[in-house]
Amino acid sequence: MRIPDPALVVLVGPSGAGKSTWAAARYRREEVVSSDALRGVVGSGPHDLDATEEAFTLLERIVDARLARGLTTVVDTLGLDAERRSRWLLAARGAGLPAVLVLMDTPDAECRRRNSSRDRPVPASALAGQLRRHRELVRAAEAEGWDLVHRVEPDTGRVADSAAERTVHRTTPERRTSQGLRVVLQVSRFPWGEDPAGWMAAIARAADEAGFAGLALMDHLIQIPQVDRAWEPIPEPWVTLGLVAGLGTGLSLGTLVTPVTFRPAGITAKAAATLDALTGGRAFVGVGAGWWAREHAAYGLDLPPARERLDALAAAIETMRALWAPGTKAYDGQRVSLPETTCYPDRPDASR
Ligand code: GTP
Ligand code: MG
Repeated sequence: MRIPDPALVVLVGPSGAGKSTWAAARYRREEVVSSDALRGVVGSGPHDLDATEEAFTLLERIVDARLARGLTTVVDTLGLDAERRSRWLLAARGAGLPAVLVLMDTPDAECRRRNSSRDRPVPASALAGQLRRHRELVRAAEAEGWDLVHRVEPDTGRVADSAAERTVHRTTPERRTSQGLRVVLQVSRFPWGEDPAGWMAAIARAADEAGFAGLALMDHLIQIPQVDRAWEPIPEPWVTLGLVAGLGTGLSLGTLVTPVTFRPAGITAKAAATLDALTGGRAFVGVGAGWWAREHAAYGLDLPPARERLDALAAAIETMRALWAPGTKAYDGQRVSLPETTCYPDRPDASR
């Protein structure tokens, strides 16, 4: 069932029913007006019950202001107060917006289970009262005059986040578009909050499921101004790709692009060969000449003139190819001479 947009969306469900989670997955943060969040603004935190009255005063003002501008407004409270519901419904009518009631159908036992595993559970007696009032409301909701009553099916299944529950691709499937292209998701921003590894894994799994042929990471030492602010996280990509390599996706992995000014070419060849071995042949290498003076200066790296960098790029490609080639014999090429080319682990398919 499609929820209209813009609309007033009023969430209803006991603690732990999953209201905030549902809203966060579907709406922008600014669209969700949450009594818990506002308790955190005017009180000591989302659980500061002494701040409830002021939090709701603010909530009502925000709801009115947003609706008057015709903006989508998701009201994230328990939703069990009939007087407030009817006021929000009237405000939506006044603004000419559809009014939607979202009922969480999470089973009581599941709410109790989630509640008890929280840092600050609601007391059992309070939760019992919420569950009772919620059941009454479920019966009466249709009569309240909402344009749509949307019921959220219970999802008691574990969130499918373990690699074991997913298809594990051991070889690279031919992930091509109808024109024969292989499309790679390039990740250049890393807004991973408190959970870098979890965020990165979720992005990679989503890319895998969406059918991308691969995943690439930007290689910079400081986040570039074209993308985000300098103090936002920008991880070392080869280390990060090691984490993605362990997820069992079918994605090809590499960087777009690794500047030859950052690491000696042999070291990049080694990192890529290792990634290739660990992923069963799913590594690729993107290389460039490097360009951003600021990150080079900050990390004590040389940034020679463009002509020299382009020569270095050509030499780097030659070095990597020589090291990846089968065998260990000496290499004497156009720009590069190496006394031996011993680079193990080997690429499973060195002709690739
Ligand atoms: P209150 O703010 O206390 O009223 O709760 P809420 O209804 O906003 O619940 P919230 O979205 O905070 O979810 C409570 C807990 O249940 C969190 O730990 C969520 O991660 C988990 N949860 C929420 N939705 C789902 C779901 O669809 N499936 C599963 N398995 N867990 C969920
Ligand atoms: Mg919540």
